[in-house]
Amino acid sequence: MQPSPIDTVITGGQVVGEDGTVAADILIRDGRIAGLVAPGLAPPADRVIDARGKHVLPGVIDVHVHFREPGMTHKEDWGTGSQAAAVGGVTTVFEMPNTNPPTDTAENFALKHDLAASKSIVDFGLYGLLGAHNVEHLEPLAAAGVIGYKLFMGNTTGDLPCPNDGTILEGFEILARLGKRCSIHAENSPILFRREHAMQAAGRTDPMAHLAARTDVVAVEALNRAATLAEWTGARIHIVHESCARSLDYIRFWKARGVDITVETLPQYLYLDAEMMLEPGGEVIRMNPPIREKAHQEPLWAGLFDGSIDMVSTDHAPHAAEEKRGADIWKVACGFPGVETSLPLMLTAVNAGRLTLEDVVRLMAGAPARAFGLFGSKGVIRVGADADLAIVDMGKSAVLSAATLHSRGKSSPYEGMTVTGLPVATLVRGKTVAKDGQPVAEPGWGKMVRQAMPAPAPRHTETTLAAITVPHQRPFAGTL
Ligand code: DOR
Ligand code: ZN
Repeated sequence: MQPSPIDTVITGGQVVGEDGTVAADILIRDGRIAGLVAPGLAPPADRVIDARGKHVLPGVIDVHVHFREPGMTHKEDWGTGSQAAAVGGVTTVFEMPNTNPPTDTAENFALKHDLAASKSIVDFGLYGLLGAHNVEHLEPLAAAGVIGYKLFMGNTTGDLPCPNDGTILEGFEILARLGKRCSIHAENSPILFRREHAMQAAGRTDPMAHLAARTDVVAVEALNRAATLAEWTGARIHIVHESCARSLDYIRFWKARGVDITVETLPQYLYLDAEMMLEPGGEVIRMNPPIREKAHQEPLWAGLFDGSIDMVSTDHAPHAAEEKRGADIWKVACGFPGVETSLPLMLTAVNAGRLTLEDVVRLMAGAPARAFGLFGSKGVIRVGADADLAIVDMGKSAVLSAATLHSRGKSSPYEGMTVTGLPVATLVRGKTVAKDGQPVAEPGWGKMVRQAMPAPAPRHTETTLAAITVPHQRPFAGTL
């Protein structure tokens, strides 16, 4: 049987991969990349996208967004969130479980899946919760199709209680067996609560109190506790929103020991610092973990190259504008939108000479695809991969403004900032979902991604809770 003809060609662009950039025309058939040919050699096609003067990148995979639906749609929903993603050059999002209801059971997963599938214009994965109350639901969540799990060790939006260490260990034992990655909000809850309450009792409501509650050790301790339990169990973990320069040595230590640990940082930790909280309206940058002192910025940039930080995500965390303002820092909602501005911010850094376009592809497409078992179908421009593409104009500038964001959460710490390097078209499985800064696809084009993780590699299985609750006559073999 003859293959169906090429339906779309993208001509004249510079095609960017992790290892280099080539001038090539891209052939697309049935939503997938069917070929890469020398410029000018593309066969005729129904649709020709002219990418002269532009770069074509694999679409961004953002493994950390909060789209708020179900339950908090005054902040965001799958329509607005995915439109913001598309405009930002993001073709796949992984959405967090701190919605209402949380994604803590297979039923609640199905509820969210149906909302996402009917509204999203980009592809998506959905996290399940590893919570204090739902260990027995972890396996059904895997069967339902979660992309991974989310463990909130530190308190944040949604107030999901941190599981105690016994529950975390048991959860990791189960996840190690399932082989799926657990994304971890690594902050120590008892420490941050005690400090928060002490400062509240002392009458502190200023923005710096938020940073003081969650000072560096809050992050460093939780990271090392999580990595210790991951090493013991063989669970795969991903540290979300790494904000702290002091964590980086430890991350390299755990990686060197063979723990399957990946790490993301966020553009806001690379661009912003805590002193900005003191400016009028500066409370907008309240988030968890906090944006820290300026001294953290350069080590985090360095971490993008020294093997400690694998990827750049966003923690897209929209809130209603009025929830983001106020003189009492404890009442200001945590987080702000990011999915629409992350690629422009990183492209701006490319133009400033901080990193290369190839680095951007590694950090925002290749690495996330590898960590979560999507690489090959996503995260790379090659024959057989989904035609998930961000066409960017490295010479185009825009002034960022909360008012023009497609997210429902109209607040931004980047108000008035000029970025240079913008996505001008975004394709998801061959379909243009955003063009010239506007979403153009019908709701429901987005599909849940299919994942293929490596075989699970659980460790110390003879010591798991499941193993020790049946009677044992002898000690374990006990080899070290
Ligand atoms: O600031 C934050 N906001 N940090 C998080 O970890 C969660 C997020 C949210 O959901 O609002
Ligand atoms: Zn988050």
